Amino acid sequence: MSHMKDLKLQRWHINDPVSVIRTYPSASPKADGLNWIRELTDEWKNPFLIVDSEVGRLWNHQLQSLYSTSSGHYLMDAAEELKNTFTLDQIWESMAGAGVRRDTPVIVIGGGLTCDIGAMAASTYLRGLRLMLVPTTLLSMVDACLGGKTGVNLAGVKNQVGTFHPAEMIVIAPEYLETLPGREFRNGIAEALKTALIGDPGIKTIIQEVCETKYSSDQILEMIERCLIVKGDIVSEDLLENGSRMLLNLGHTVGHVLESASEFRLSHGEAVGLGMIAEAAIAVRFGGNSNLPDEIKHFLEISDLPTEIEGIPSSEVLTRLLQHDKKSRRSGRIWALPFDWGDCRLTPMTTDQEEEILPEALSCLRA
Ligand SMILES: NC(=O)c1ccc[n+]([C@@H]2O[C@H](COP(=O)([O-])OP(=O)(O)OC[C@H]3O[C@@H](n4cnc5c(N)ncnc54)[C@H](O)[C@@H]3O)[C@@H](O)[C@H]2O)c1
Repeated sequence: MSHMKDLKLQRWHINDPVSVIRTYPSASPKADGLNWIRELTDEWKNPFLIVDSEVGRLWNHQLQSLYSTSSGHYLMDAAEELKNTFTLDQIWESMAGAGVRRDTPVIVIGGGLTCDIGAMAASTYLRGLRLMLVPTTLLSMVDACLGGKTGVNLAGVKNQVGTFHPAEMIVIAPEYLETLPGREFRNGIAEALKTALIGDPGIKTIIQEVCETKYSSDQILEMIERCLIVKGDIVSEDLLENGSRMLLNLGHTVGHVLESASEFRLSHGEAVGLGMIAEAAIAVRFGGNSNLPDEIKHFLEISDLPTEIEGIPSSEVLTRLLQHDKKSRRSGRIWALPFDWGDCRLTPMTTDQEEEILPEALSCLRA
């Protein structure tokens, strides 16, 4: 006779999904910048640092005091082809060489790519170390720094291997944006516009102001904070993406297809922007606001992001590329569709429905 019984364990979270976000408005010019380093508290003493090499180069002078008090550091080039297990292994080796212990905190300074792999190193080395993220691109400030997803690419698929390891502390220092190339800045604006559609229509007004004034630290900081509030609410409810977190994929289902079909000539933000227009057109078929595709186009135009493309992928290419989407299930996919500003809904579609609806929705992107 079997003696099997269920042990009733209290449901536990992988980690507290809500990170502390500390913002440092940049009042001072670059030469005196990076107040966050001066104000680091003792609990982050002697950290192991993982730093985007471009940020390391541009902000070398300001980072010196941090290097000199760290346990060690790893500089990495932010290239998707290097976001892999080989680089992860090099980071682990570097941590071992630096004598990283269970009580050594990890601070990652860089864009979303460096944050993803650096956080993965922190989450796996010695089965998990305390983590601070210091995002340095607009995209990583408004989105990637929060929510605990870590990852590396494998077998040509983005973020195929990863963990959930929310940062204990996130430092937002918008002064890093002073050195960010314009195209990277626009990638972040596309994600902010996505957040306006998901949960805070007021963000689009700030985007308009940011685009008109080009650079105003106060407005950018407000935009970042409001994006993080929307994302924070979603991820603290559904860290592991079993439900509402899928809303954050808005624009990304079509976006990833366009990004791959363009052989990455389109940047991620450009592709997500186009994806939002097409997905709003799909939403119209389900009763969404019929003006929304044009309204999204307007905000992309004022942000200098593309609203149309030359070669729309054929139905065959679309179907093939959609199969690689992580949201794919045997019967189709769950789409995050924008019905209106602040009204994004999870909508399942069968493969047959996709084949019928997608070509027409994508035709609104034709140049
Ligand atoms: N974990 C998440 O929730 C999440 C969400 C969205 C995206 N991501 C990941 O984020 C990555 C994209 O991140 P990204 O858009 O921040 O780009 P990135 O990290 O690839 O950086 C883009 C470029 O900007 C440079 N750079 C970074 N900060 C700079 C600065 N202050 N000044 C000058 N140059 C700077 C980098 O060296 C790089 O050349 C992807 O790998 C994606 O998978 C993760």
